[in-house]
Amino acid sequence: MPLLIAIDGPAASGKGTLAKRLAGHYGLPHLDTGLLYRAVALALLDAGRSLDDHAAAAQAARTLDAERLDDPRLRERAMGEAASRVSAVPEVRAGLLTWQRRFATDPQGAVLDGRDIGTVVCPDAGVKLFITASSEERARRRHLELAGRGETADFAVILADIEARDARDASRAAAPLRMADDAIRLDTTDLDANAAFDEARAIVERARGSMS
Ligand code: CDP
Ligand code: CDP
Repeated sequence: MPLLIAIDGPAASGKGTLAKRLAGHYGLPHLDTGLLYRAVALALLDAGRSLDDHAAAAQAARTLDAERLDDPRLRERAMGEAASRVSAVPEVRAGLLTWQRRFATDPQGAVLDGRDIGTVVCPDAGVKLFITASSEERARRRHLELAGRGETADFAVILADIEARDARDASRAAAPLRMADDAIRLDTTDLDANAAFDEARAIVERARGSMS
């Protein structure tokens, strides 16, 4: 049976890092679904459109080009905020759902990370993880990460950004950020990336044991 791993959680919880490592360990393809929403936002901005132009956003989601996912600008801090705005538009979510589902049906299995993977995109995933950490710890991680890329910003500004984005993602009507009833919560506030990977791998192994 293909191994499908769904990973959700708030901003900078470490879900992307964990997803990549699990995918490497199990030899599975990995999709960072946040990049899709970031790419829709960037396509709008590049076309000189407003992020509030829902028709243009829906069109950008339907016609998204995979090559755009390599654009380094997608990783900029402002793009996380812009992605959160377009991701509340139901037609954008619908446009990206087909793409994500196709990826998830890879016969080998797959790892997807985002906000609604366990609840909407892959409700039947064999393993669902919900990664959390305190907002201060997440802001600390993002601050370090941005500094490493030469993008400087105040810790307080990053913390406020992260909290505002989580609140928007959790309160929107369309596929809000929430833990699936059958997901396992992993709080990584006091875990480094290696320790989080070890815990997650143990969870995956237990789930695989009960699948076979
Ligand atoms: O994908 P998401 O926004 O949830 O977070 P990420 O980009 O995977 O991780 C944000 C930063 O936290 C990265 O620099 C990681 O190395 C670091 N980190 C982590 O991923 N996991 C931990 N348990 C601790 C730190
Ligand atoms: O890395 P970080 O957690 O900061 O952000 P991301 O995962 O790249 O996601 C950027 C934004 O896209 C989020 O704040 C969400 O609004 C949206 N998103 C979503 O709505 N659904 C997903 N499956 C993934 C991302």
